[in-house]
Amino acid sequence: MTSKARSVQPIQPEAFWKGLKAKSFGRSFYSFSEVTSTNDIASQLIAKGAPEGTLVTAEAQTKGRGRQGRVWTTSQGKALAFSLVLKPRLSSQEIAGITLASAVAVAQTLEVFDLKPQIKWPNDLLLKGKKVCGILTEVGPRHDNRQSVILGIGINLNQGAKDFPLAIRSLATSVYRASGHRVDRVEFLQKLMANLETVYGWMNEKKFSWVLAEWRKRSVTLDQRVKVTQIAKTFEGRVVDIDPRGFLLVRRETSLTETVLSGDIEILKLKTRKHV
Ligand code: BTN
Repeated sequence: MTSKARSVQPIQPEAFWKGLKAKSFGRSFYSFSEVTSTNDIASQLIAKGAPEGTLVTAEAQTKGRGRQGRVWTTSQGKALAFSLVLKPRLSSQEIAGITLASAVAVAQTLEVFDLKPQIKWPNDLLLKGKKVCGILTEVGPRHDNRQSVILGIGINLNQGAKDFPLAIRSLATSVYRASGHRVDRVEFLQKLMANLETVYGWMNEKKFSWVLAEWRKRSVTLDQRVKVTQIAKTFEGRVVDIDPRGFLLVRRETSLTETVLSGDIEILKLKTRKHV
């Protein structure tokens, strides 16, 4: 642990609970100065019987991880890094939609703070074209015969340019960099818990079409020319739609339409879409 890590106080549960409107999300709350990854802590807590809605936050992560094995760095006291324990009553195919639903909830929360986020499929939130939030959904352990899912979210709130490692400085942003305004991290987290609880409720009630309608309004991916990189292949095409399960439909030059379940999407030439 660095001396800087020791000096940053984790979010205080009492302050967090005070303005929390969510019924179950965040009611069980663990906050740390430093952990390996909040997803790891959530996994350990699930194995010990942690209920759905258990929230784990940390100021620093020594092994913070992103999708495709990437590293995720968190600026202490200026960002949010957390994991939420979910125990969905959904099929494994439906569980994939949790990432999209979570992206919608993060976007709705950013909008409360007068920002205009866009969602890049499947799980990146952008402000002015740069990444402000990443979402990593992992399958957690089974406990008491219930499958669990760990929803890991990292959001850049109050960092300035120099708080970002040089390698990602031109690609990443924060609410502060994009808008010039700082936001209260605790207030943001409280509002996000309420929004996540609502959209997750839609999923469990089999109203995924509601999630998709909200996702479409904020998508930066639809109608764009993209390069899709998957483990087995890479190809280019135009995003023609998102299907009812949340998979991208990409039409290749050959007119073959590929259904993209996972992979990295690079937008090749950005067409502007009106933000609703
Ligand atoms: C991505 O964009 O690749 C996903 C980034 C997810 C980062 C969050 S921070 C909290 C949680 N703990 C982790 O180790 N990762 C997720």
